[in-house]
Amino acid sequence: MPKISKTLPLILAIDTSCDDTSVTVVAGRTVRSNIVASQHQLHKQYGGVFPTVAKQAHQQNIAPATKKALQQAQCSWSDIAAIAVTIGPGLAPALEIGITYAKTLAKEHNKPLIAVNHIEAHVLSPLALRQSRKTISTQATEEQLKFPVLSLVISGGHSEFVLVKNIGEYEKLGQTIDDAAGECLDKVGRLLNLGYPAGPIIEQFAKKGNVGIFSLPIAMTNQTSFDLSFSGLKTAARTLITQLQEKNQLTAQNIHHLAHTIQEAVFGQITYKLWRILLSPDLENRSYPSRSDLKKIQNQETTPMNTPIQAIWLGGGVAANNRLRACLRQTLRKYHTLTGQKLQLHTPYSKRLCSDNAAMIGVVASYKFTRGEFAQAETLDRKPGLILD
Ligand code: KG4
Ligand code: ZN
Repeated sequence: MPKISKTLPLILAIDTSCDDTSVTVVAGRTVRSNIVASQHQLHKQYGGVFPTVAKQAHQQNIAPATKKALQQAQCSWSDIAAIAVTIGPGLAPALEIGITYAKTLAKEHNKPLIAVNHIEAHVLSPLALRQSRKTISTQATEEQLKFPVLSLVISGGHSEFVLVKNIGEYEKLGQTIDDAAGECLDKVGRLLNLGYPAGPIIEQFAKKGNVGIFSLPIAMTNQTSFDLSFSGLKTAARTLITQLQEKNQLTAQNIHHLAHTIQEAVFGQITYKLWRILLSPDLENRSYPSRSDLKKIQNQETTPMNTPIQAIWLGGGVAANNRLRACLRQTLRKYHTLTGQKLQLHTPYSKRLCSDNAAMIGVVASYKFTRGEFAQAETLDRKPGLILD
């Protein structure tokens, strides 16, 4: 039986921001248990998350998930040092269940509360550590953590480039101005009747599709900002799908080609902007590289200055996609060849930590615990539109 860590405080963390009820126990960055009660089956019929259904399911799932998280971590309430909970962003009725439950537990067991931003949790998700360290992890140890880091949070609700200056110190470099990448994949998947959530299904279908059959534009290439946009892509995909339907050509093979095309267009835009961030002449001031500079770099007439970025972190549901990971790694290899500067891509140790989970909430909470950042039950409230700043 694994011993309870004497040095690191155990934190019980809860996430009910969207359609997964998740409870975890962490010891610092180490995940002792991570229970996720998924509601995907419930929401499938709506093709998206239905807030009142989510609320009801969270209500039913939260107590059993908490019990299981404690059991799996082999600890009892007396071992727990604090209770952490997501306060936002997310669906208001869903957040409410987690927050109310956390407050009840804190009162009953006399524990301090920690409020966590769900986006910060996705940012720090690559820092979570497996309890058994038998496998060699590509993750950085505490001493190896070097800042600034560029975090990509690519999920169903968010698509953001965040400069992590230190743990708890963030600057957003760019974000989607409309739909998130996962949302775009889900919406196109809905048009193709692929089921919900469509992202993982599109990943599988795309493997059987070919390049060059259809084409969709890579958006935002004329904008000199690090922002992203996916709603135009969804509209272009809808037009393409309607045309195929009208010609009676929406065959299984064409759906595979479409899946491939949409995935490449979404990931193509993300890697396009990543490349420009890496080649930014002055990242502190968010300077966008000029076309002529990019051309000179491309033609090897000039070598760009090394970026201050030390590593790339990837989090969020879409981070589970192997093709996205491959595209990002390819960009980093290209950058290495060009500049000699090697940047590693760090992802969560398991794909279960990409999509919503409480383990990542626990990781943020463990840092907050160390800094003594506790919340007062009376003022702790849901913040559905919370941002990271
Ligand atoms: O992080 P997450 O669970 O929830 C939010 O905070 O939004 O992300 C869910 C999103 C959905 O849009 C889902 O389709 C997408 O992540 N997703 C994927 C994959 N797995 C989940 N997208 C592409 N490929 C995947 N393998
Ligand atoms: Zn999320």
